[in-house]
Amino acid sequence: MVKTTLSVIKADIGSLAGHHVAPPQLLDVARQELAKAKREGLIEDFYVTRVGDDLELIMTHRKGEESEEIHTLAWETFKRAADVARGLGLYGAGQDLLSDAFSGNLRGMGPGYAEIEIEERPAEPVVVFMADKTEPGAFNLPVFRMFADPFNTAGLVIAPKLHRGFTFEVMDVHEGKVVELSTPEEMYDLLALIGSPERYVIRRVYTREEPRDVAAAVSTTRLNLIAGKYVGKDDPVAIVRAQSKFPALGEVLEPFAFPHLVAGWMRGSHNGPLMPVGEADARPSRFDGPPRVVALGFNVKDSKLIGPSDLFADVAFERARRLANEIADYMRRHGPFMPHRLGPGEMEYTTLPQVLEKLKDRFREA
Ligand code: 13P
Ligand code: 13P
Ligand code: MG
Ligand code: MG
Repeated sequence: MVKTTLSVIKADIGSLAGHHVAPPQLLDVARQELAKAKREGLIEDFYVTRVGDDLELIMTHRKGEESEEIHTLAWETFKRAADVARGLGLYGAGQDLLSDAFSGNLRGMGPGYAEIEIEERPAEPVVVFMADKTEPGAFNLPVFRMFADPFNTAGLVIAPKLHRGFTFEVMDVHEGKVVELSTPEEMYDLLALIGSPERYVIRRVYTREEPRDVAAAVSTTRLNLIAGKYVGKDDPVAIVRAQSKFPALGEVLEPFAFPHLVAGWMRGSHNGPLMPVGEADARPSRFDGPPRVVALGFNVKDSKLIGPSDLFADVAFERARRLANEIADYMRRHGPFMPHRLGPGEMEYTTLPQVLEKLKDRFREA
């Protein structure tokens, strides 16, 4: 049977009025490039959108994961869009493309991506999550809840196909290693790791029921230490399969009704609530945030994308948004204090070394 690959590839290649929103001109370029690739038979289908300042390419094809052709297509598309961004004088043009438009932090080592290669079920529902002003570890809590928390996912308790649980592949971003843990048996070990989302990040989830099948993938492409500095604060994307032997659509979305605190707000150096929004509201502006997440639901059929449905546009997520705004007010009142500001090792910007250097002769024994 022919397999289908779903590739979600994203990059911040420039935005309007600050780190705010990728304008329609960039989406137009991306649509033109991907329409050409579809005509030429390189990809089967595509959907282009933006979440905040991140340009998102959602593509189906038959080239498998980590395909050079597909990644080249994405890179060339981003490069063309970056040229347009430069022409328009957009902020951070080419930010994620190792270009000359370096905006003052070590981020910008390359685009992020999540991919799954699947044998399509007769009905193949998938959810594509895309977030801005945060990092891949932001998905730890919701993905854990989808696949391991019986208070979130009723199916773990009452659906025979889910009852054995799932296997999580977790990446230690400091060591560049991965480990697999299966729930429910190893739930506490798993939580001991992923409760530190800046270091341990869920990268993939698999069924335990045979045949082992991929259930979810999170972009962790830039998660590594370069020259002793963590450069993984990359706005992430994730793909989650739904229904049948996977959690139901509503079980996949339910964790986002709680706007949990994530790292990456303002200058990549603050914690804030992750606000679930529809595509139209993925335009973070308050203190460059608060962090946003969009969820698009598709069905994949014969490698074509049916949909999407803009899942967080549902009025049922309004309370989560209101709560996120209240949490944002509360967190903002801490100003430069932790835990609103991130700890010293995690900030993308810091003046601490300069301040310590300046004051070194003035420090005396206490
Ligand atoms: P600049 O220092 O380039 O103004 O960027 C600040 C910022 O918002 C990036 O995180
Ligand atoms: P992005 O990572 O979305 O470019 O945001 C940079 C930032 O820190 C804005 O405050
Ligand atoms: Mg940006
Ligand atoms: Mg961004």
